[in-house]
Amino acid sequence: MERICEAELMDDLAQAEAYGAADFSSSDRDLVEWIAKQFPGGLGENLVDLGCGPGNITFLLAEKYPEARVLGLDGALAMLGLAEERRLSEQVRFQEALLPCPELEGGHTAVISNSLLHHLHDPQVLWQSVRQLGAPGAAVVIHDLRRPSNETEQEALVERYAAGAPAILRRDYSQSLRAAFTLAEVREQLALAGLSQLQLAERDDRYLVVWGRLTP
Ligand SMILES: C[S@@+](CC[C@H](N)C(=O)[O-])C[C@H]1O[C@@H](n2cnc3c(N)ncnc32)[C@H](O)[C@@H]1O
Repeated sequence: MERICEAELMDDLAQAEAYGAADFSSSDRDLVEWIAKQFPGGLGENLVDLGCGPGNITFLLAEKYPEARVLGLDGALAMLGLAEERRLSEQVRFQEALLPCPELEGGHTAVISNSLLHHLHDPQVLWQSVRQLGAPGAAVVIHDLRRPSNETEQEALVERYAAGAPAILRRDYSQSLRAAFTLAEVREQLALAGLSQLQLAERDDRYLVVWGRLTP
């Protein structure tokens, strides 16, 4: 099934609010625990979460790594407004940044991103941002949906995971699945970006994950 891009930014207020109100806590917590297992020595002191949205993963990372500072970046002010409303401490900061953003400083000990890749019309924007923002040897985890093989599979996933969700979320979820990449496409992206040392695998019935370290 061919990829159909969706809008990059989630800057529509109704869309951002529906996303912010949805409960993704179970899969988000699973992901943060999965990350912790891959990096038993921790993620260092200076983490960045790309395409942070309302901060779901950003806050969970801060909770898991209380000694670390966590920066959430997103290009959508509607999302960042929700994230700021939830922010309780200086450990977490949010910043508006539309990637690619050459002005952003590098040197982060970990670069994390959940569900950004499929939004990007040019996926190299993410891989080059990972290289730009990570310190040498930084931990990297990029987690996203993977594109189903056909529309029947796409509809089945929407039924399985978004059956009772509001219409706006069902629509977004369906479009996101169609906009996602396959494992083979991501492998090519990594080779093109000079990041072939990172590992790539399927996760569950609907995700893919890239993880490892930047070259020291
Ligand atoms: C599906 S949400 C994921 C939010 C969050 N990472 C999570 O796991 O809940 C994708 C986010 O990526 C942001 N985004 C998309 N394209 C972007 C870009 N080029 N630069 C920065 N943020 C972007 C969107 O605005 C949206 O908030």
